[in-house]
Amino acid sequence: MIVLGIETSCDETAAAVVNDKREILANRVLSQLDDHRPYGGVVPEIAARAHLEHLDRLVAEAMDDAGLEFSDLDAIACTGGPGLIGGVMVGTMTAKAIAFAAQKPFLAVNHLEGHALTVRLTDDVPFPYLLLLVSGGHCQVLIVEGVGKYKRIGTTIDDAVGEAFDKTAKMMGLGYPGGPALEQIATKGNPDRFGLPRPLRGRAGCDFSFSGLKTAVRTYMDGFPIDQQTEEVKADLAASFQRAVGDTLIDRTRNAVFEFMRDYPTGKTLVLAGGVAANKYLRGRLTELTDQAGMQLVAPPLDLCTDNAAMIAWAGLERFRLGERDDLDFKPRPRWPLDPEAPKRPGAGVKA
Ligand code: KG4
Ligand code: ZN
Repeated sequence: MIVLGIETSCDETAAAVVNDKREILANRVLSQLDDHRPYGGVVPEIAARAHLEHLDRLVAEAMDDAGLEFSDLDAIACTGGPGLIGGVMVGTMTAKAIAFAAQKPFLAVNHLEGHALTVRLTDDVPFPYLLLLVSGGHCQVLIVEGVGKYKRIGTTIDDAVGEAFDKTAKMMGLGYPGGPALEQIATKGNPDRFGLPRPLRGRAGCDFSFSGLKTAVRTYMDGFPIDQQTEEVKADLAASFQRAVGDTLIDRTRNAVFEFMRDYPTGKTLVLAGGVAANKYLRGRLTELTDQAGMQLVAPPLDLCTDNAAMIAWAGLERFRLGERDDLDFKPRPRWPLDPEAPKRPGAGVKA
């Protein structure tokens, strides 16, 4: 079984081919970072136009890499949401056109399900597992019972964790995207220098909050005259910030681990997924938690943490082999929660 995947929900244009032997036959990702950098963030219209300009070529390259024709595919999958709607429309229309022309089944994949199921492609992780989904638009803990079966047990009540990284990095003048830049300078910093809050620490439940942390960094920055905002100050602040994020993630996820172990005694895995899962420091910190709990931490390789189309092809393949298909009149979805039963939270990220 071979599936082509297309990803266009944010600022990566991507096409990939995977098969049911868990092999990635092609994985092309074109980052639009240079297009958006002058604006300090992703500009939706620029993103949509760039997807339109590059997607056909990337699909052709991915098919070439895999050495396949469209007629060799079993299905075509694309991100159907959530995300920036112009980009999602470009990917969806392209996938539908290929599916229609090649007379192949079409699947519209939830981008978050792509992140959620990546570890089944890379590590064959069995259900159920506990998932900490940390990206630019999300910070959620979910119990993954199966394909399409998600139970959200915690979420951010304000900023997403990647958003907190990006905003903090921006106020420190580290440019865009902030997460990787902040991680980079934090390696040279002293994490004990600045006292920062650990929002919601010790409280019941598994919700997260990051906006207070970001404000505290701003207060420190504002306390330094501009000529004293040295590389050393920034590195120490970045390291202190990253440690506070690590402590917060561990504290909140610990409650989720207890709940998961109580209700799903066969589950042994905590999965870390989404763009922020590329952070090596946080990956390391979360193993403290899984070691204590007798669980295993699994995170995809770095290039499959950030947005890519292999995860979309794989999620499409998982749904396809369960007999699922989508109609060609599928409407792209700017919002698409993994657990539609979970109560909406007012500040919970742009894509929740
Ligand atoms: O999953 P993703 O590629 O896109 C979304 O679906 O949001 O996640 C992007 C987010 C951005 O906020 C980016 O700053 C963050 O992931 N990120 C990181 C790192 N690499 C990417 N945050 C912290 N450390 C990193 N190494
Ligand atoms: Zn993503």
